[in-house]
Amino acid sequence: MKVLIVDDIPQNVYLLETLLKSYGHTTLTATNGAEAMRIAEAEVPDMIVTDVLMPEMDGFTLCRNLKGDERLRSIAVVIYTATYTDERDADLGLSLGADRYLLKPTEPSALIAELEKVYAQPRSAARAPEENDPVYLKEYNARLVAKLEKKLLDLQGAQEALRRDIAERERLTSLLRQSQKMEAVGRLAAGVAHDFNNILGGILGFAELARIDPGVPGPVVGHLDGIVNAAQRAKDLVQHLLTFSRQKDRKRQALFVQAALADAIKLLRASLPASIKLRTEFDSTAPAILANPTELHQIVTNLVTNAWHAIGSASGTIELTADVVWPKGAQRYVRLRVKDDGCGIDERIRDHIFEPFFSTKAPGKGSGLGLAVVHGIVESCGGNISLESEPGQGTTFTLLFPEHHGEVESHGPATASAKPGKGERILFIDDDPTLATLGERFLTMLGYSVVAFCNPVEAIARLKAEPFHLIISDLTMPYRNGLEVAHECMTVRPNVPVLIATGYNPAYNVDDLRRQGVSAIILKPYTMQSLNEAVVLALGK
Ligand SMILES: Nc1ncnc2c1ncn2[C@@H]1O[C@H](COP(=O)(O)OP(=O)(O)OP(=O)(O)O)[C@@H](O)[C@H]1O
Ligand SMILES: [Mg+2]
Repeated sequence: MKVLIVDDIPQNVYLLETLLKSYGHTTLTATNGAEAMRIAEAEVPDMIVTDVLMPEMDGFTLCRNLKGDERLRSIAVVIYTATYTDERDADLGLSLGADRYLLKPTEPSALIAELEKVYAQPRSAARAPEENDPVYLKEYNARLVAKLEKKLLDLQGAQEALRRDIAERERLTSLLRQSQKMEAVGRLAAGVAHDFNNILGGILGFAELARIDPGVPGPVVGHLDGIVNAAQRAKDLVQHLLTFSRQKDRKRQALFVQAALADAIKLLRASLPASIKLRTEFDSTAPAILANPTELHQIVTNLVTNAWHAIGSASGTIELTADVVWPKGAQRYVRLRVKDDGCGIDERIRDHIFEPFFSTKAPGKGSGLGLAVVHGIVESCGGNISLESEPGQGTTFTLLFPEHHGEVESHGPATASAKPGKGERILFIDDDPTLATLGERFLTMLGYSVVAFCNPVEAIARLKAEPFHLIISDLTMPYRNGLEVAHECMTVRPNVPVLIATGYNPAYNVDDLRRQGVSAIILKPYTMQSLNEAVVLALGK
């Protein structure tokens, strides 16, 4: 049969055309009722398959016009539409002379079968009502409006879904961008930190040596204190950068928040001005968590300092509380909260406050690393941080730490009582001549007998020739790293302990080094005191 397809959507026309042709029918096409009328008059097809909502002339009007034309009245007409509101649509179509009312999409073979059936049947006897028949007009308008409303609602739904998709995509993209930025800064920081730690080690160490030299006059000791303090601050900054980038290898242990924070709270109380009250409340039933005590100290110091700055010179209260929550199923969390009644955080900057170097403080007043560090630490503990803030009212930071079920060790840095040496022989290796000299001086002052080398090959040759009680080696060195040196030393003198000094090296963590036979590890930059403690530990005194 010869079928005229009427639809304003080209894809619909194409589909139907292909289908009909594949069943051996010929096709004509039109994009609206008016065009279809012209083609029908010229070609007189056997059947017309028409959509309803189309520009210029809709499918209902097309039906009515066909039935009003003597020559075209016998053409079979099928209305094929996607916007179906209720059965009154079909009723109107059929009353206008359509032979069938079908809904899109109909399965292809079923559609063809239906069209062929319609063609074989006698034509609808319905006579088209007059154009100005009031009953017809009312129904016609009502049906079209209903259909248009339905189409509009569908479109609005699609638009809303699209808008949600776009918003979600934007959110994910910005998260990705953010985490890439954090990662890039972290890598940069870690790269700088290694060399910087060595430089600081030299400054701190020699200043310390000079300070304890009895020949140095009193006023110079004051200047040296200034150097030590400034270098100490620079050292803290490097530690912050490494902590925030989570590339710093700090040992976590099971601890109780209240006990671990006792010292930090004492210190904070002493530094806050009298106009600011620090109220604390700890739930004594709160379980242990897995964290590093120094890092926990750092978190609270950073948050309370921010709270203090938010309150400014006005009087205010900072509340530090810890309790237990079960936010997700069976897992218990220790909730640490720092609440202030300061200036609050504007909605516009809330997304940025955890970014490294984001600060609203005057130049020189804030580095913008405080919250980035807190964020890094909390995440590395498997925890979570969130905040609520009302501009002008205050801010509450909430930190959740998962409960730890293992045994609780005593906390605080492991301190071996520092016993001075009794002339034990130490082989000291550091490729940086400043640090090699410093190590030699420190250890000599502590009562050890030291031979220092910048070149590991020379050091090993010496080790083969003479006995030593301890080997101290830097980890990151050109040509041969500390671990290779340690292995060679262990081969040459299997019973001599090896102490590794390391600033930051992403390839190793403390546990790896221990597994490889290293007796003790010392973090750079070290002080005379911490070097002594590590030596005592490594010698097993
Ligand atoms: N409790 C708070 N109340 C109001 N604003 C806050 C609070 N905590 C943080 N902020 C805002 O977040 C910004 C970032 O804080 P962050 O601690 O990272 O850096 P900083 O305090 O500016 O510098 P620093 O590195 O010295 O801590 C602050 O500059 C401040 O605008
Ligand atoms: Mg801060």
